[in-house]
Amino acid sequence: MKICVLPGDGIGPEIMAQAVRVLNALDLKFEMEEALVGGCAVDATGNPLPEATLKLAREADAILLGAVGGPKWDSHPRNQRPELGLLGIRKELALFANLRPAILYPELANASTLKPEVVAGLDILIVRELTGDIYFGQPRGIELREVNGETQRVGWNTMVYAEYEIRRILRVAFEAAMKRGKRVCSVDKMNVLETTQLWRDIAIEVSKDFPEVELTHMLVDNAAMQLVRNPKQFDVMVTGNMFGDILSDEASMLTGSIGMLPSASLNADNKGMYEPSHGSAPDIAGKDLANPLATILSAAMMLRYTFNQEAGAQRIERAVKKVLAQGYRTGDIYEPGTKRVGTREMGDAVLAAL
Ligand SMILES: NC(=O)c1ccc[n+]([C@@H]2O[C@H](COP(=O)([O-])OP(=O)(O)OC[C@H]3O[C@@H](n4cnc5c(N)ncnc54)[C@H](O)[C@@H]3O)[C@@H](O)[C@H]2O)c1
Repeated sequence: MKICVLPGDGIGPEIMAQAVRVLNALDLKFEMEEALVGGCAVDATGNPLPEATLKLAREADAILLGAVGGPKWDSHPRNQRPELGLLGIRKELALFANLRPAILYPELANASTLKPEVVAGLDILIVRELTGDIYFGQPRGIELREVNGETQRVGWNTMVYAEYEIRRILRVAFEAAMKRGKRVCSVDKMNVLETTQLWRDIAIEVSKDFPEVELTHMLVDNAAMQLVRNPKQFDVMVTGNMFGDILSDEASMLTGSIGMLPSASLNADNKGMYEPSHGSAPDIAGKDLANPLATILSAAMMLRYTFNQEAGAQRIERAVKKVLAQGYRTGDIYEPGTKRVGTREMGDAVLAAL
């Protein structure tokens, strides 16, 4: 079980240190090796994804990432942008499945902009296809055309999905549902778009291999409404790249606390990159203020989805629930009456709760 550890920039090293402590405390005999990615890699080598990092990422079974970027590198040339480090790994490892849980722990219900009774206890998983759809479809462009007798600029894109792309992301969603509430809601726009008619047809075909999982379908406009009206009705939602882009951001904002949200990007062999949904937070970097829980929860996802260590994953998740119940809060989730702690002290509390 080899893990490539990429702390990255900003708060990355601080939050990663706590996740590594938690992993080491589990006695699961991981081999962990650290490498540079993002801005720190640019400083050291001139390249946001040095060859040595890519080699380690390829060799490892999973990658645990902190965050990359910061104002220091904003004026660098395009080929030295820190985020190229992440995009390069996603592309090299063909990470086509993005998994983003949106969980709202009852203790943090006030952080949401929705009424506590609507969101408290929310636990949904959005599975988004990451490498296809209208974002990558060809042909695309902007060109001059004759329209209504005059020459105008016309822009166009192509929404396209091959059967194998739909089938493999649906399988990820069904397999994830088997580890959770055994319900999949497939989101499409089949009343208007042929691509998503095919999506729905294949969803029904794939569901035959998972008789224990209940499959439902929802049009994307309704899904966007239902996420704010009654989000707790969902278990796993699966959808294409563009709809998933929008719905996963909507779902994560239901929780109101960015420092709590983990994510995973997987390939066909369940190899994955695991990272918090937030960025490198340069405004609080190096001050022991960052919330390490999203990174710690990303490590739990890694145990679940790449290493099949469900017991270890649950141990971490239970420990996080416990520290919240005990009242520990970093600044981003602090409320009067709770115990304000720093990054390291939050890590200590999780270790104690394990
Ligand atoms: N995957 C990634 O590595 C990733 C994702 C998004 C942004 N970025 C990069 O991060 C840098 C900052 O971007 P941004 O400010 O738009 O987004 P951000 O997520 O870094 O920060 C937004 C706000 O949330 C706070 N915050 C974020 N994570 C937190 C945590 N764990 N604990 C407490 N507070 C937290 C920050 O202090 C800030 O006020 C940019 O360079 C951006 O390109 C990287």
